[in-house]
Amino acid sequence: MPKIAVLTSGGDGPGMNAAVTSVARNAAYYGMPLIGIKRGYNGLLGLSDNIEDDVFEMNLDTVLDLADLPGTYLRTARCTQFLDPKVREGAAKRLKEMDVAGLVVIGGDGSFRGAQQLCRLGIPCIGIPGTIDNDLAYTEMTLGYDTAVNADMEAVRSIRATSRSHDRPALVEVMGRNCGDIALSTAEATGSEIVIVPEMPWSVENVAERLNKLIASGNTRATIVVAEGAYASMQPFDVYSYLKPYSGEIFEGEQMNARLLARTLKYMCHAEVRATVIGYTQRGCQPTARDCSFAFEAGNMAVVLLKNGIGNQVIGTRNNRTFHTSIDTALSETRNFKESLYNLINSL
Ligand code: F6P
Repeated sequence: MPKIAVLTSGGDGPGMNAAVTSVARNAAYYGMPLIGIKRGYNGLLGLSDNIEDDVFEMNLDTVLDLADLPGTYLRTARCTQFLDPKVREGAAKRLKEMDVAGLVVIGGDGSFRGAQQLCRLGIPCIGIPGTIDNDLAYTEMTLGYDTAVNADMEAVRSIRATSRSHDRPALVEVMGRNCGDIALSTAEATGSEIVIVPEMPWSVENVAERLNKLIASGNTRATIVVAEGAYASMQPFDVYSYLKPYSGEIFEGEQMNARLLARTLKYMCHAEVRATVIGYTQRGCQPTARDCSFAFEAGNMAVVLLKNGIGNQVIGTRNNRTFHTSIDTALSETRNFKESLYNLINSL
């Protein structure tokens, strides 16, 4: 049976360990030796500070203890050197020297592009979409996204409870890089009244107008969910000039952020708007059943494909079914943002 390898790459995500465990269980079932590569492509290239433990034979017994843990036991890294064709050639050579007949890459868009290049160098690769951001167009969900949304929902529920007690609006920033899906789903699930995302242009004045209307209608504790990447789609607003008269609120050159937006809305709406940035608690938490189930099926599909000599594929979900498609097709698709849901949340 061919020897295969697995790595996790890019930002970690809940469910990555479950996917590695599934790969390990399936490899053991089919009698395929499994190599674990630590710290993403860095480990493959010997670029990390821990080269001695970066490439190792995976022991199923150890792996079985990791399945439901958050984070990634294999560690992860973002490997900028992998953009260099010469470096990729070195990686393919190393895999061939190790007799690795196929590689499972668990990561996001950038990691898949690395896998696509390795396929062109003769290494069959299978991608499992591991990122909380849900920014891959070909799949309805990426591993970790459901967990991140559930973590954010819990956080927003707590924030809304205290906002309600004090009749204060709240502004909550969630992750997602350039993708507003986490913000949109969190706002929908919590009944938040305003959502701001990178996909849609917005202005501080319009958000203030909406908040003022909510307050005038009696909603004194509305929640604004902001995607971390949404400041890029904000219409120009000179936050320094606006907040400068309120001494100590801003430093020269400071760009718009959750704290400054909440401060600005405080003065525009005469309301005690408080900001919370949820941060890593949404990425480092225990995976949900949905993410673990996807990990289980994706690991199985990845190993079966490699066992059958099939590479250049990524795994995803469509209509609640796990499927695979070619990396090239997957990476050529464009995302379809749920604009009608966005409009509904911002108008009810
Ligand atoms: O891609 C996952 C993600 O958590 C994004 O949502 C976020 O923008 C980014 O990673 C943060 O990366 P880092 O932890 O390296 O700053």
